[in-house]
Amino acid sequence: MMKIAIIGTGYVGLPTGVGFAELGHTVVCVDKIKEKIDLLKSGQLTLYEDGLNEMFLRNLQNGNLSFTTSMKKAVEEADVVLIAVGTPPHPVTQEADLKYIYAAVIELAEFLTGYTVIATKSTVPVGTGDDIEQLILQKNPTARFDVISLPEFLREGKAIHDFFNPDRIVIGTNSEKAIKVMSQLYEPFLPKTEILFVSRRSSETIKYASNAFLAMKIQYINEMADFCEKTGADVTEVAQGMGLDKRIGKSFLNAGIGFGGSCFPKDTKAMAFMGRKVGVCMDLIETTINGNKKRREKLADRVCQTLKNIENSKIAVWGLAFKNDTDDCRESPAMDVINVLLDRQMNITAYDPQAMQNACRTLGNKISYADDMYAAVKDADALIILTEWKIFASVDYQLLARLMHQPYVFDYRNMLDSKKALENGILYQCIGKKF
Ligand code: UDX
Repeated sequence: MMKIAIIGTGYVGLPTGVGFAELGHTVVCVDKIKEKIDLLKSGQLTLYEDGLNEMFLRNLQNGNLSFTTSMKKAVEEADVVLIAVGTPPHPVTQEADLKYIYAAVIELAEFLTGYTVIATKSTVPVGTGDDIEQLILQKNPTARFDVISLPEFLREGKAIHDFFNPDRIVIGTNSEKAIKVMSQLYEPFLPKTEILFVSRRSSETIKYASNAFLAMKIQYINEMADFCEKTGADVTEVAQGMGLDKRIGKSFLNAGIGFGGSCFPKDTKAMAFMGRKVGVCMDLIETTINGNKKRREKLADRVCQTLKNIENSKIAVWGLAFKNDTDDCRESPAMDVINVLLDRQMNITAYDPQAMQNACRTLGNKISYADDMYAAVKDADALIILTEWKIFASVDYQLLARLMHQPYVFDYRNMLDSKKALENGILYQCIGKKF
């Protein structure tokens, strides 16, 4: 077993640290935010992830997993240090802001004892590994280490599942020593998972290229949905037909309000920025970014065009998180749609199974928050479904129609059964189907 240091206890660092502790390693997670560390030390999770809590508590109790604000405690004697801090988009240029990465590297450099593998798990621009290497050599010329790229492919809400069932492990390094250490660390994942060793720059590129492609696939099916709405086709059927082609695949063909979250918006913008920086026009990615952003306002406008008098109308919103099975509202389409409706003087009551606390940090008392999905729709002039929580698909259509003042439903995640909706007198609109 090894000693592993995880720098950053967010949506990537925490599930990754718990996962390696579960595999029997000694994992020390470090974070600058003392309040966060104190909560984690006391057995309180600081984010929602399916299956994380019991695994987190088990390893906290058996001593495999510990938390500290001391970089020294985390890094000294570590065999592998995983850097999992945020790389938010620069507010103006949209390039990945690496200030947290460099701050962590400068701090950890002096505590390196013995040969250590420093792995960037955060999504970092191509070439960042080279900069980190130089920085450590400057701070600690005698340190024995290798810097590798170890991109994460965890989906929020599925992080524990994805940690133990990765499609692939990508490791970017040319160092034989690092290859040996990482082969040992990931040995338990063989033979089910392929471990791909590539150059560090290829590994850094794979992460962006993968996320940008997935984001583009979503924008593509949303464009197809717009086409279907004009031509009488049904985008859900089109997606089924496309997905049976193994070269296309069934995933990421759910048309809807568009993508959000802390990854796709950030990574597509960073990829486009890197392209521009080296003189390569990433037209497909630029179009994806612009199309996805415009879609939110376009679909919010559709609500306003459909409802006669919109001022002071009561709008129910189901879903605030950027997707189902998470409490995360970062770059959530729901936030943008709600802001458009608020600008039009509409009164919003929202319900989300997990994300209302986080949403309240952004929206505050500009909207009301309902205790359940039915309380949200009481006397509403319209309902908009903005997050694909499965609970919404099990709605009682009769009750829904009875509770609403006007039974307009804008299903921007295609969660409901259009036939049942129409049978119950609901004035139903979804995505990618002519009404
Ligand atoms: C993504 C990548 O999937 C993951 O591999 C990477 O490590 C991090 O970024 P995540 O951002 O957690 O994961 O969410 P994901 O499940 O990919 O969904 C991203 C967005 O696309 C969500 O807003 C979701 O609602 C939307 N989406 C997804 C669609 O609109 N349609 C789809 O078919 C799939």
